[in-house]
Amino acid sequence: MKVIVTKNYEESCQVTANMILDQVRANPASKLGLATGGTAEPVYPIMVDACKKGEVDFSQITTVNLDEYMGMDPTNDQSYRYYMNQRFFIPAGIDLARTFVASGKNDPEKEIALFNEKLYGDGHFVDIQLLGIGVSGHIGFNEPGTMISGVHVQKLEESTIKANARFFENEADVPTEAMTMGLGDILKAGKIVLIATGANKAPALRKVLLDDEVTADVPATVLKMHRDVTIVIDEALAAEIGWKN
Ligand code: F6R
Repeated sequence: MKVIVTKNYEESCQVTANMILDQVRANPASKLGLATGGTAEPVYPIMVDACKKGEVDFSQITTVNLDEYMGMDPTNDQSYRYYMNQRFFIPAGIDLARTFVASGKNDPEKEIALFNEKLYGDGHFVDIQLLGIGVSGHIGFNEPGTMISGVHVQKLEESTIKANARFFENEADVPTEAMTMGLGDILKAGKIVLIATGANKAPALRKVLLDDEVTADVPATVLKMHRDVTIVIDEALAAEIGWKN
């Protein structure tokens, strides 16, 4: 596992965006695995900017997002489809037909089949997967106690609901379930880049970085089993974790 410690979160976003941009420059027909959440948010405008300056061509990429809230209409401004359209796909001029964010409104069984089709139907695995990490230690929405390999519907932890309440008017509005790639899906990506900031992520990252255990208590620990993972953290978080390069 490679750990990049940056001066600050802004630099972390730049480093993370550069890794995705480098992947697309190396293979313009890359399949990108994308994430939402607050931490990843500033990564997208950097990629949009690179595209507008002609430094990268996104016309041949395909994308698959990690997850979506169940019951959430894709047109709802809290949906992850809306997040991706607004922050990346539309400003970068990406054909939405080349993008996939699961719908939280469709029949779950059919949607899981479609999700798998998008992940594996063309025989082209995700080339680079962007991840954040939850306070609970989740990646995607794979919550503690569950080590499910494939796409599934996941009940969200109380800590996840509380953390995500900042994006909603009331905590009661936060959906309690999400459809997510499973841990096996995430581990099939060629490369993985995880960006994190904030002291509240330190306990989960300590379990990822400072011991050899892979445990369902902290699902992100499965990343130890992948051969090309980069974790991007800023100095403040590194100090909080107790990580020294
Ligand atoms: C989002 C996702 C989640 C988030 C995680 C961190 O698509 O899969 O795992 O990356 O919950 O969220 P933030 O960045 O808001 O702390």
